[in-house]
This record gives sequence, structure tokens and C-alpha cells, in this order.
Amino acid sequence: MTRISTPFSAKTTAAEILTGVDLSGRRIIVTGGASGIGAETVRALRGAGAEVTVATRNPGDGRRALDLSDLGSVRAFVAGWSGPVHAIVANAGIMALPTRQVAANGWELQLATNFLGHFALITGLHENLRQAGDARVVMVSSGAQLRAPFDFDDPHFERRPYDPWDAYAQSKTADVLLAVGIAGRWAADGITANALEPGYIHTNLQRHLDEATMRAFGAMDDEGNLLTPDYYKSPEQGAATSVLLAASPLLDGVTGRFFSSANQEAELVQGGPDATTGVAAWSMDPSAADRLWDYALAATANAHEASNAS
Ligand SMILES: NC(=O)c1ccc[n+]([C@@H]2O[C@H](COP(=O)([O-])OP(=O)(O)OC[C@H]3O[C@@H](n4cnc5c(N)ncnc54)[C@H](OP(=O)(O)O)[C@@H]3O)[C@@H](O)[C@H]2O)c1
Repeated sequence: MTRISTPFSAKTTAAEILTGVDLSGRRIIVTGGASGIGAETVRALRGAGAEVTVATRNPGDGRRALDLSDLGSVRAFVAGWSGPVHAIVANAGIMALPTRQVAANGWELQLATNFLGHFALITGLHENLRQAGDARVVMVSSGAQLRAPFDFDDPHFERRPYDPWDAYAQSKTADVLLAVGIAGRWAADGITANALEPGYIHTNLQRHLDEATMRAFGAMDDEGNLLTPDYYKSPEQGAATSVLLAASPLLDGVTGRFFSSANQEAELVQGGPDATTGVAAWSMDPSAADRLWDYALAATANAHEASNAS
């Protein structure tokens, strides 16, 4: 399969992606759209005329309440939605929590927030996506998906030692597999799904990282001042690939693919400790995507039954 290329680069901003594009009448949900990359995604989509709903834990002006780690909150959001959804940008996320934290239902918090909550949201809005006729699902993953496959034996670190980066990595692998799973299931509804890595951007995401880790990224000096290495992007550039996948006509009909922060389709590589670029074969594996779909469907259904029973 030929890899898709675009005229854009790692330096292209989200607004530049949408130059000349009219999104009037398109209703788009951006999770975690109140800060960081999400806020810039929202700004660019609104700038092109889209009606954007910001789904956030802190609702307010133009924002709707959504806590992805709480299935009750996800279900309330879904129940409160009516009419078509033209795109969902699954952007909200948390990274590398230093110790194992769990949601109220016992799920490891990164998996709950980054993947399972989004799975419940997107599958809950399937009919609304179908109504749009040409809806797009955008999974904001990460280069971290290169680090670890999804661990079907122990996804919540109940038996294996907790590792902050492995927990983040498997949640981001799961995000890519969800795009693959949607591509394989919902094409007849006109729904496409793709995933991306935004690159390195200074945002609130790094709040759990210690100074040694920030220095290892080249993002902090010895005095604790933030540095911006050349390979870092501004938030406006960091939002570009999300916007490309959510709304650019260049991606019409494209589904089940992974795009790099340079706004090009990524190369398929073997994941592992030495992998630095591309998308891991384990993230794009259709059989893993099927297995994950079944796992997530059962997990979210069981959690619903448990909360009804309590
Ligand atoms: N920045 C980077 O270098 C980088 C690199 C690779 C991938 N990414 C990915 O990019 C995405 C956006 O991250 P960012 O860098 O823009 O970080 P950010 O500024 O921290 O934004 C993440 C957003 O996620 C939301 N969020 C967290 N927990 C939530 C929950 N339980 N329910 C609903 N929303 C929740 C937060 O929204 P509220 O607190 O307002 O609810 C926050 O606005 C993430 O998926 C991240 O993994 C970022």
C-alpha cells in the first residue's frame, strides 16, 4: 500500500492546514479541548467555521462536562448529544503517572482516560457519526506507541510491576488499534478513522515528569528552566496533524492509517526500545484490533452493569 504524503511539514500550523477549507455546518467534538494541543485544535477548527464542542472535566462557556475516566460521565455526555457528529478528535490524555493510580472502578488511570473512556464515547456516538454520512474519528496517539504493545493478560498492571511509561505506551497503542478497529467495522456507515502522533510540545501533559526526565528530553536546563529544542513544536504546530485528520479534504475517504507529526503517513516499523520513528506493527495489527475491540466492549459493558448494581 502506498504511503500517503501531503504538502505539509512538521512546521505547518493547524490554521495553515485549513487554509481555504470551509467547515460551516460541521459539528465536531474535541476531548480535552480546553488546553494544550486540544485548545489549538479547537481554535483552528472554529476558525474554519466548524461548530466545535469542547468536552472537558471543567465545563464552562462553550464546553461540556466529560470525565473520560468515569463511564457514568461518558454515558451522560452521550445521552445529552443529539444529531450528527461530523468528527470526534479523541485528544484528551494523561501521561506517565509516577505511581499506579486507578479510576473509581479500579481501571489503571491512563488506560481508563486515554483509551477506555474514548472507546465508550465513540461507540456510544456511533449512530450520531453514521448520521453525518462522512464522519471522521481522530485518535491522538503518540510516539510512545512504539514502546509497548497492548498487554491483554494484564492491561491494568494488577500482576506485573507498574511502569509509568509502559502504562502510557499501551494506552497509546490501544488508541491506534481503535482507529484500525473502526476502519474495519464502520466503513459502510461512511465513517473513517485515523491516528497520529503530534510530536513534542510543551503542555500540561508533562506535569508528572520529574526534572531528570525533562533534562533527558533536552527540555530543561540544570537550573530547572524550560528549554525548547529544535525538534519541539509550538502548540499551533502540534495541533496540525489532528486538524489534518479531522477536516482536511486531502484525507477524504482515508481510513485506518497512522500519521506522523510531520503530517505524512508513517512508516510501519518493528516496535521496541530502539524504535524512534514510525508506527509499530503491533499498533496496526488487525487481529490485535479485533481482540482489543472485544476486550473494550466487554470491559465497558461489565463496568456499566457493576455501576447499575451498586
Ligand atoms: N504534548 C506532547 O508532547 C504530546 C506528545 C505525544 C502525544 N500527546 C498527546 O496529545 C494529547 C493532548 O495532550 P496535550 O499535550 O495537549 O496535554 P494537556 O494540555 O495536558 O491536555 C490534555 C487534556 O486532557 C484532558 N483530560 C485529562 N484527563 C481527562 C479526563 N479524565 N477526562 C476528560 N479529559 C481529560 C485535560 O482536560 P481537562 O483537565 O480540562 O479536563 C487536558 O486538557 C494527549 O492525548 C497526549 O497523550 C502529546
